[in-house]
Amino acid sequence: MGATPTSRFEALVATQASISQIAHTKLLTTLTVITAKITLFEFKRELMTVPEALYESSLPSLKLRARGKVRDIYDIDDQHMLIVSTDRLSAFDVILPDPIPGKGRVLTSVSNFWFEKMTHVMPNHLTDIPLEQIIPDVAERAQIEGRAIVVKLLKPLPVEAIVRGYLIGSGWKDYQKTGAICGIQLPEGLQQAQQLPEAIYTPSTKAAVDQHDENVTFEATVDLIGRDLAEKVRDASLTLYREAAAYAKERGIIIADTKFEFGVDEEGVLYLIDEALTPDSSRFWPADQYQVGISPPSFDKQYIRDYLETLDWNKTAPGPHLPPEVAAYCAEKYREAEVRLTQG
Ligand SMILES: Nc1ncnc2c1ncn2[C@@H]1O[C@H](COP(=O)(O)OP(=O)(O)O)[C@@H](O)[C@H]1O
Ligand SMILES: [Mg+2]
Repeated sequence: MGATPTSRFEALVATQASISQIAHTKLLTTLTVITAKITLFEFKRELMTVPEALYESSLPSLKLRARGKVRDIYDIDDQHMLIVSTDRLSAFDVILPDPIPGKGRVLTSVSNFWFEKMTHVMPNHLTDIPLEQIIPDVAERAQIEGRAIVVKLLKPLPVEAIVRGYLIGSGWKDYQKTGAICGIQLPEGLQQAQQLPEAIYTPSTKAAVDQHDENVTFEATVDLIGRDLAEKVRDASLTLYREAAAYAKERGIIIADTKFEFGVDEEGVLYLIDEALTPDSSRFWPADQYQVGISPPSFDKQYIRDYLETLDWNKTAPGPHLPPEVAAYCAEKYREAEVRLTQG
């Protein structure tokens, strides 16, 4: 039986309704796709927006005290100074000619995070003096926002307090040659990047600009700063490393090794100074890619070191230029380490 005109009409209406419904759904889908595309574009643009790089700061209202490899230091008064973390990158103790955009901000935020987290182990050089108080001019301050801290001016000890939890870098090289690092005898048959039975303290002396730091024995640091301070520095360094390494491990980061600096005030009280547990002062490895026997990929400037090892460069100044994609990748890795550690 053929359909009656009424039912045919109804069928037509129904068809049209479903067509318009399909059209409507299609339109919605299209809109959703467009919105998603815009969001993705915005997101990508945000990712691609290279943060403004600061290679060298210039603050007319303060007197420049020194430019370190990474930090610019300004005098405030006889008790305080301003530390600005720039985007300079030093590798093999040579300052490279290109900045890593945003790196100084990451260093500042990661350091501040650890300083605050570790106050129970050791006092640090941070003060609560706001930047606005030191640099009231908004435009001048804008240059260093997020990358400057007002710190207690202390007397830095001439020792780099290095702690190693894993066998890598110069430690691995020393071990291969001598079976020991800084005079500390290690078990035989350890492999590259292997975790040590326990973390070890392997100090070095702070080298002058353009010189390489030199690994020394613990007793050599006793000669430099006295037994009491040398022991305090060693013990604090090991505690700081152990606590930080355990925390970072839970966030998927292995802290293979790290370097602390300490300073004393006029009463001889010991403080943690400089930077702490950043990708610059440490080797950070993603835990999920860690493998004994190879140098793991890393969040830190190891990536740059590895790149530099592929070049025919004798590791003395001047350093080579970095391809933009290498610098950008490095910036991204710094940022990733910050997010994992401080926002995890
Ligand atoms: N609170 C402090 N008091 C005095 N000196 C400090 C303090 N914190 C850091 N420093 C020193 O400031 C310098 C930081 O700049 P940086 O670029 O890291 O220098 P370096 O080239 O020596 O690594 C280091 O020499 C460090 O010892
Ligand atoms: Mg330094």
